[in-house]
Amino acid sequence: MKIIAAITGVSAYVPEYILTNQELEKTVNTNNEWILDRCGISERRILKDKDKASAFMAAEAAKTLLAKKSISPLDIELIIVATVTPDHVYPATANIVSDMIGATNAWGFDVQAACSSFLSALSVAAKFIESGTHKKILVIGSDKMSSIIDYTCRKTSILFGDGAGAVLLEPSTDDTGIIDTRMYADGSGKKHLYQAAGGSLIPASIESVKNKQHFMTMEGQPVFKLAVIKMADVAVEMMERNKLSADDITYLTPHQANKRIIEATAKRMGISMEKVMLNIQKYGNTTSATIPLCLAEWESQLKKGDNLILTTVGAGFTWGGMYLKWSY
Ligand code: UT7
Repeated sequence: MKIIAAITGVSAYVPEYILTNQELEKTVNTNNEWILDRCGISERRILKDKDKASAFMAAEAAKTLLAKKSISPLDIELIIVATVTPDHVYPATANIVSDMIGATNAWGFDVQAACSSFLSALSVAAKFIESGTHKKILVIGSDKMSSIIDYTCRKTSILFGDGAGAVLLEPSTDDTGIIDTRMYADGSGKKHLYQAAGGSLIPASIESVKNKQHFMTMEGQPVFKLAVIKMADVAVEMMERNKLSADDITYLTPHQANKRIIEATAKRMGISMEKVMLNIQKYGNTTSATIPLCLAEWESQLKKGDNLILTTVGAGFTWGGMYLKWSY
């Protein structure tokens, strides 16, 4: 019998501090109406504690999930953390998380594919379940975007927030779970969205700090144009490949980058906005955490057998889609 990887639990963590559009109006040349109209964002969460970062948020989400499922951390075999803001260049954030939650039997690693990190990590984790080698995997998306955002830049400071979401992946034999995945990348898009310094090409130096190269650099327009096309393309591709009509779709679970990108995707799929998981107004773009934050928020409304299309797009460029039959 074919083993399918199924999400059997989900939880999230967001920091307490709320950064509103009104507060941003005081620091950069922007206004609430523009941000709401062009992006759909009202507020975002910021992790203010200087001694806490992505691993902390990931561990909080994981601990809640394990408690909810009454599972011992010792039963977790693998932890994959999706993040563009790891606590350190190394060791992997996943290893720090396993120590924080007491998952001492788990091995782990990080996956980084910009805003597509979570869907990439989930598709990698699914292969370990499908092969029969692993039975309990935590996939966690966690990003402290505030650590790489220049809060004097109105182009990026309005968009991003901090948060984490975790899912438990287990084998399913009842035909529910991850049915189909298609991921894409086009590395020629690098110039439009990147963090220049901190890697091996431009290691940290006085110049790199002075030149603000440790912050995100983004040209919004080309990213928007690519995102609006590719996210819709891949969503429609998932429907066609799996012979799903608009009526068959229970929910679209999109990466939350801009409300207008999400609306365009729903329109191309022929579904109404009632079928779209949308919480960008509360959290902004939390990069690796957007999709699990949505799943956690909608969990109580989901039923076994519901058809979900997950979609993502981000720097790289990277984009992709997943067809998931909800398992509980
Ligand atoms: O997950 C992937 C991560 N990134 C993304 O997905 C970002 C994709 N891009 C976007 O979402 C949009 O391009 C932005 C939200 C970043 C920008 O929206 P836009 O509609 O593409 O705005 P624009 O850059 O074309 O600027 C339009 C106007 C300009 O003014 P003028 O030249 O028409 O007078 C900008 O100067 O809006 C102005 N503007 C702002 N005004 C107030 C740009 N940023 C702001 C701002 N507040 N924060």
